[in-house]
Amino acid sequence: MSDTDHVPRYPNDAVAHTNKSSDEAARRWRVAIEIGDQGSGTEKTSVKTVSAEKIESGEDFAIETLIDDRVLAIFRHAGKWYAIDGMCSHQGGPLAEGVVRDGCVTCPWHGWQYDLATGIQMINRQPLQESFPIRQIENRVEVSLH
Ligand code: FES
Repeated sequence: MSDTDHVPRYPNDAVAHTNKSSDEAARRWRVAIEIGDQGSGTEKTSVKTVSAEKIESGEDFAIETLIDDRVLAIFRHAGKWYAIDGMCSHQGGPLAEGVVRDGCVTCPWHGWQYDLATGIQMINRQPLQESFPIRQIENRVEVSLH
């Protein structure tokens, strides 16, 4: 089944699929994290800073940030980056403050769990939480919202 054949069954399902565009050339990457000493936030973007030592230590961590008025939760987990909507689709809980284990984050408010890579809610298996492509280019971690 291709993306064009997809028929949304749930409210956020359509959003999740538009974000999985195969048109890589059209993708717009935004800097979310700079690895180094100083971030460079602007009015619409609060670029966070993470030290290279923290990355190299291999420890897991999460950062909440804002890009184009979207709250994002960015996770470093098991040596990989993940980006999902930072506000839980249940009642808006802060997912960057959740516990991460085995590729899933548990919302600190009521315990809903989401797969970090897909945003799928682990109990009902629906794509309730929007996830975003993320990449690291040298000392920049970039997220694509579109
Ligand atoms: S707000 Fe996240 S589980 Fe309720």
